[in-house]
Amino acid sequence: MISALQAPSLFKAFEPCFRVGAALSSRLLADPELAQIVCRHFNSITADNQMKPESVLDRAGTLARGDSRHAVLDFTRVDALLSFARDNGIPMRFHTLLWHNQTPVWFFRENWEAETDAPPASKEVMLARLENYILDVMNHVNTAFPGVVYTWDVVNEAIEPDQGGPGFYRTRSPWFALTGQDFLPAAFRAARRGAAPGQTLCYNDYNAFDPVKRDAILRMLKTLQAENLVDTMGMQGHYVLSSLDIAQCETAARSYAALGLKLQVTELDIHCASDDEAAREALAGLYGSWFSMMKKLSREGICIEAVTFWGVTDADSWLPGFRREPSFPLLFSADRQAKPAFDAVLSAAE
Ligand code: GLA
Repeated sequence: MISALQAPSLFKAFEPCFRVGAALSSRLLADPELAQIVCRHFNSITADNQMKPESVLDRAGTLARGDSRHAVLDFTRVDALLSFARDNGIPMRFHTLLWHNQTPVWFFRENWEAETDAPPASKEVMLARLENYILDVMNHVNTAFPGVVYTWDVVNEAIEPDQGGPGFYRTRSPWFALTGQDFLPAAFRAARRGAAPGQTLCYNDYNAFDPVKRDAILRMLKTLQAENLVDTMGMQGHYVLSSLDIAQCETAARSYAALGLKLQVTELDIHCASDDEAAREALAGLYGSWFSMMKKLSREGICIEAVTFWGVTDADSWLPGFRREPSFPLLFSADRQAKPAFDAVLSAAE
């Protein structure tokens, strides 16, 4: 195996088709070798956590301001990765303006209380908070780091058929509980106002290949499109080696593109519980076929803005924690070597 530092550049191989990206944690900033690997292989980056509402909202500042509709924000973490991106000339995806997860409880309470049983804010107040939050974030990013962010994940994971809600909306979400479905167009309307020219607005979700979920997402996207609010469908792409169905991914990608939307794969990894030779080869085979399929779509004229891995090496994957078993889902091993999967992906570009 060859070191990630010496392996041919992944993003250069795919330049005619789409950007190749990676999600990064702030640890990157303290690890010069990892930063070098990122600069060599990726021409798009995503913050894994640093741009989520919980990393941006400042409760002490908000309480001090005393405005029930307008939270105070702290951009320390956001700026650290944006500075890295700007200084290294790598465009960023902003992930994510609205999500039911990793958003503090107090943001949803009437007087910004931290207790879960405190009275919730009214729908009207929540929609005002949402608009203020989105406009403040976008204004800060576009003013302090002009030209660095090229796409915004405006809403993450609003559809979940398993929860059986109307239109298959995710009902176990504080956004749904307090505003019904209205948070979705409200978030995109604010984002459209806050976006700089050329920035795309993305709806992002997992299992977007699943036919039932796909059809629910398509219905929702059409309602946003009626107001010209969405540009890109973000298919997360957290796959599992034993069940990844590439034909299903292709069908779903084609149906989102048929709406006239651009595509991104935003959080690619393939869970693989073993790292022995057979598992490495199986992973390589799947990654190779998956990338060939994506390249075919791009060659047909479907606009794929980027394909982003969720992590750089197996050492920084979220999957062992999530799956409670070992996982070796990425192209670079924990000791920063290019795995057979890397070679397979590179060959798919040829
Ligand atoms: C989801 C989110 C990401 C991240 C991953 C797992 O897909 O969109 O921000 O939290 O889960 O790490």
